Amino acid sequence: MRTEVFAVDGVEPEKDVISRAAGVIRRGGLVAFPTETVYGLGADALSPKAVRRIFEAKGRPVDNPLIVHVGERDAADRLGQVDERSRRLMDLFWPGPLTLVIRAAREVPAEVTGGLATVAVRMPAHPVAIALIKGSGIPIAAPSANRSGRPSPTTAEAVLEDLGGRVEIILDAGPTVVGVESTVLDVTGDLPVLLRPGGVSLEELTRAVGPVLPSPGGIHDAGSPGTRYRHYAPSIPVVLRGPGEEWAKDPRLCRSGVRIAYVGMSPSPVVALIEIRFGTVEGYATGLFSALRELERSGADVILAELPAEEGVGLAVRDRLRRAAGDRDRNS
Ligand code: TXA
Ligand code: MG
Repeated sequence: MRTEVFAVDGVEPEKDVISRAAGVIRRGGLVAFPTETVYGLGADALSPKAVRRIFEAKGRPVDNPLIVHVGERDAADRLGQVDERSRRLMDLFWPGPLTLVIRAAREVPAEVTGGLATVAVRMPAHPVAIALIKGSGIPIAAPSANRSGRPSPTTAEAVLEDLGGRVEIILDAGPTVVGVESTVLDVTGDLPVLLRPGGVSLEELTRAVGPVLPSPGGIHDAGSPGTRYRHYAPSIPVVLRGPGEEWAKDPRLCRSGVRIAYVGMSPSPVVALIEIRFGTVEGYATGLFSALRELERSGADVILAELPAEEGVGLAVRDRLRRAAGDRDRNS
């Protein structure tokens, strides 16, 4: 299959490009599109056949459910049960990087939910995503547009690298703004449960709806099926250090002649072959996945990554770095 890449305006997307891409979605095809978090790999959420193509293109385990993207708040009512608390969260955070796990309506295909009784829904804050959903007239199921086991793509180039020849169209509106994926919140129980930290912070959620539970067993054993799988596994080891922690003792960093690639906010404590630094934790989140792709390509033997403080979007950055370092191996 030939993949067509169309540049599209991120504020006022060109109508002809959107209608072409929407036609592909309506015919059961795949379109990679930008959201405010990362690029998504979209298909008609109500067509089992179209959804199956997403799993094939990504090489994704079929029991890992997908997020259904809607173009307006009310569209969520047709996909599942929206209670008062969910409505409040939608009013506060949609469009935006918050995914709500609610009880699914019967018409949502098992291919989307992984056979669960729940469905994940979100309204993205990106004009291209909204135009595509509205243009196709159907909700769009979309995981991140990477091959399974690769970092989520924050640029169209990264999508092409992973999925070239596997999707009909890639819509290119430049780099995404948030950089880490949406926060996934299960709102089916008495108290909301944080299944995946992301673009909306735990502090913001707590201010809005009161106490939020960590996922059973902590974020690292989350009830979100996706967290069972090994995520991004770089070809070189990743060593993690909190700010101010001792750096030099890890044997992977001390071998003579070792070439270190560094990413973090403070200056590298060791001589690095390549060093990527961010001035703010928001910047760290925005640039994290493309930094990891770049460091992996740099020819270094090991990646040294600084964990940001555990607040705001720092929680999501820490979570993604931990997964990259292989903390989740026991669950894969
Ligand atoms: O920002 C994002 O969320 C991006 C953009 C494209 O919207 N999408 C994304 O999708 O990150 P994906 O498939 O890479 O991650 C979705 C996560 C997975 O961990 C999955 O297991 C979880 O959401 N999930 C989906 N449906 C679920 C459900 N019914 N119950 C629990 N977890 C669910
Ligand atoms: Mg993903």
